[in-house]
Amino acid sequence: MVSIRPCQIGDLMSMQNANLTCLPENYQMKYYLYHFLTWPQTSFVAEDDKGNVVGYVLAKIDENEPKRGHITSLAVLRSQRKLGIATKLMKQAEVALLEVYDADCVSLHVRKSNRAAFSLYHEVLKFKIDEIEKEYYGDKEDAYSMVLYLKPEVEEEKEREKQLEKINKAAKESIEAAKRANEEPKPVSNVIHGKKKNVKKIE
Ligand SMILES: CC(C)(COP(=O)(O)OP(=O)(O)OC[C@H]1O[C@@H](n2cnc3c(N)ncnc32)[C@H](O)[C@@H]1OP(=O)(O)O)[C@@H](O)C(=O)NCCC(=O)NCCS
Repeated sequence: MVSIRPCQIGDLMSMQNANLTCLPENYQMKYYLYHFLTWPQTSFVAEDDKGNVVGYVLAKIDENEPKRGHITSLAVLRSQRKLGIATKLMKQAEVALLEVYDADCVSLHVRKSNRAAFSLYHEVLKFKIDEIEKEYYGDKEDAYSMVLYLKPEVEEEKEREKQLEKINKAAKESIEAAKRANEEPKPVSNVIHGKKKNVKKIE
């Protein structure tokens, strides 16, 4: 039986071990410490009945956007996968980000090739692709930058902003195209009635 509980300082070594086993994106212990001390209520571990950490989610608040949560890292040990553990860890982190920090949304990055994680985020947790970040990872693989809105009214507002942006972009493009069409040099004929016209050269 595996249970989910808030991360404690004594879990950091086990989380680092799980991270090293499961992912190529690794962090020094001082980063785990900084993460835990800065956002102590938003990270969770999955623990088996012997007290071993078999999974974790490290969640924080974006340092530049106080209403934006971010998933720093998520992993479940291979022996415990496909049991719904990652889903539970992520849902706990979402609730904590909303309750503790009143976060509007949660964002994350996932490798384009990571089908298991992408499916978890997209199909199960309903994250949406925000953009593709080219060569985001150290080995130059692209990342999907994904977002989940935690408040329906903020999602609606963001949708409206996006639509407006699209309309403005299209309008700007058509103005630019019209300008270009008017500015295109027109062929000027300097031949009148079969004779060459004297065209005064303007210096
Ligand atoms: C991605 C990962 C965290 C999923 O953990 P998990 O506990 O097995 O996930 P869950 O059991 O909650 O699965 C939920 C959904 O994820 C998707 N999923 C999980 N494993 C999958 C797999 N091997 N293939 C395809 N989809 C998979 C499915 O959509 C699944 O829903 P379903 O059971 O209804 O099909 C785990 O595979 C892992 O630790 N991978 C290595 C680390 C990693 O990639 N972390 C994410 C970095 S962004």
